[in-house]
Amino acid sequence: DKGNYAHYMQKEIFEQPVVVAQTLQSYIRPFEGEVALPDVDFDLGAVDRLTIVACGTSYYAGLVAKYWIEQFARVPVDIDVASEFRYRDPVLQPGGLALFVSQSGETADTLAALRHAKVQQQRIAVVVNVPTSSMAREADLLLPTHAGPEIGVASTKAFTCQLAVLAALAANFACKRGQIGAKDERSIVADLQQVPAALNAALGHDDDIAAMAHLIAPARDVLYLGRGPYYPMALEGALKLKEISYIHAEGYAAGEMKHGPIALIDEDVPVIVLAPSGPLFEKTVSNMQEVRARGGKIVLISDSEGIEEAGDGCIATIEMPKVHPLIAPIVYAVPVQLLAYHTAVLKGTDVDQPRNLAKSVTVE
Ligand code: F6R
Repeated sequence: DKGNYAHYMQKEIFEQPVVVAQTLQSYIRPFEGEVALPDVDFDLGAVDRLTIVACGTSYYAGLVAKYWIEQFARVPVDIDVASEFRYRDPVLQPGGLALFVSQSGETADTLAALRHAKVQQQRIAVVVNVPTSSMAREADLLLPTHAGPEIGVASTKAFTCQLAVLAALAANFACKRGQIGAKDERSIVADLQQVPAALNAALGHDDDIAAMAHLIAPARDVLYLGRGPYYPMALEGALKLKEISYIHAEGYAAGEMKHGPIALIDEDVPVIVLAPSGPLFEKTVSNMQEVRARGGKIVLISDSEGIEEAGDGCIATIEMPKVHPLIAPIVYAVPVQLLAYHTAVLKGTDVDQPRNLAKSVTVE
């Protein structure tokens, strides 16, 4: 039942504060100030190499997790899309940990990759939304998301719930690896508890973003740029836009733009920049200047500080709440989802059932 919403996708975007809170409940103990994972029969603290495998939006969640896990737990992370991983005969040390991320838990390539990793004597961890799925059944460490059924073909709430679980995993892993102490853990728990309110604040920009969609809908190509964990968020923004509005979109690491895609930029190509203020912000501002010098139109998604500094000269800005860097990427999912949604609605596409796509890809 869509309730008062026009589409399931819209309903699912707006459910995010609730389902992310629901998901986090099973991973944090607010009173103890601890991050907790389900019990496993192996020592996570002894894991010194992690392989992450997934497809599509779930892969982008894994890519954000790579940044988090390397930064906080200082464990090297390999990541691949499942269709590549399973056929390239990856080098896996026996006893390593392989992590699979999937909404459905049935995606054929991801499931085959899981079975391949198992044969290669990897421990299997899965982040899945369907607790009865094949991947859930075959895991040594099951990390469920509690997004509830996701009906819209474009993944939204499952993605932010995956990110919430992966942030908790990164924090727990960092503790077990001795990279952070009890005090840092307590503060991470406090940050994670802010996520639902921050998602609500982001959703509060729905009307502005609906207006902004008029700037995007006429475009033939759109570029999304970001650095660090905002690079996978840029990839996700581009995927969301192309799959439901059929506008060609590319996500790029902001620093890579001048190695090719800058050739595309002219006054007809909107460039959506995802960049909270922080240590990498100045670098991204230089990339924005390169875009502007070629007549490109920039939409800046940032916090108040970032917009104050670099908002002038943008065709539009979207202000995200200023939150801890660990949780901020989760919040930036909302504006890219809403922008894709409203653009698709303007274009009159079938938002919940985009052409050529299936909710669960059970063939390779
Ligand atoms: C994009 C989307 C797909 C899925 C992908 C993996 O919005 O929904 O890219 O993320 O097909 O599906 P799961 O997560 O079920 O393995």
